[in-house]
Amino acid sequence: MVYVRISILIMKILLKIKQIFGNLFIYTTWKDNDRYPAVVYHNKFVQKLSEISGYSIFRVHFWSFFAKRKKYFAGFYNGENQTGNVEIDELFSKGYLLKENFLNDDVHKKYSDIFQTEVDRYLNSDSFKRDERNQIRTSISFREYNMRDFELEFKKLLLPLVKDCYGEIKPTFRYELEVSKDGSDYESAFTKWHPDRLVPSLKSLYFPLGVDIAPFSYIQGSQIIDKDWLKISKFFRSIKNYELISKKTMVLKNEARLTLNEAHKAGIRELNNLLPNTFYLGAHHGLHRKKPFDAPGYRFHITVEFTYDYTKFSLIKDGLKGFISFNNSK
Ligand SMILES: [Fe+2]
Repeated sequence: MVYVRISILIMKILLKIKQIFGNLFIYTTWKDNDRYPAVVYHNKFVQKLSEISGYSIFRVHFWSFFAKRKKYFAGFYNGENQTGNVEIDELFSKGYLLKENFLNDDVHKKYSDIFQTEVDRYLNSDSFKRDERNQIRTSISFREYNMRDFELEFKKLLLPLVKDCYGEIKPTFRYELEVSKDGSDYESAFTKWHPDRLVPSLKSLYFPLGVDIAPFSYIQGSQIIDKDWLKISKFFRSIKNYELISKKTMVLKNEARLTLNEAHKAGIRELNNLLPNTFYLGAHHGLHRKKPFDAPGYRFHITVEFTYDYTKFSLIKDGLKGFISFNNSK
């Protein structure tokens, strides 16, 4: 009888251990299909443990070890493009690049008409007028249109800028509209200065209709991973600045706001007055935000994600390749 009890107890302990490791694995992934290192574990206990034990900073250095040895990412450690592709120089010197007249005129004309039609349709709809919220952030559906030419052309132009880093890409497009009816805005995790990752990472945006209100903002220079960047990372690794909003999502607390130093303040670039057909590619381990609205209006933009297939394992593989070829060339 005693043996049966002991066996059951051991079974229970093993199950518990399996559950803890299972959870740990879950909390290291984010948004389900995203397997690239996140800023924090989306679990208070795991993140706290990571912070107290020193693992949270070790993790940053660990991923940097591999990133530094990948030619494309190496430029984020010294501010100089190492790839030989001069088209992307500004990504390393400024943290982002803008390309005006991105799509060819025909494609842009055809699709900007479609985008404007659907944005106007939404803004004139009864549901929008009846909506009591003063600020609305929503996605717009273009399912009834054939978006193939737009998405193919976009991919064709994006690919040469990022292929050296991510290989063949499968971009996904999110068509997003943000509106402030009365010029007021609330501060969300996205309207505060933040990095998306604590390891080099890129993101692209496209403004088919241009922007003259509530611009996207970037702190030039914050893309360089140095002592100052590590200091900033401390704020974003600190559990006291976070709250859990669902089982798998932690976000910065309402009152948590990074204090910018003078160099940061001097580096702020508001990407305002962008012409229609402007493309943006940014290093999102640097500080950026969506500037809160300060006047009534709307901003339509397309977020293009193309990094989902690039995982922490891809980073390890590329880093090791760089490490081996460096040692062989010595
Ligand atoms: Fe972001």
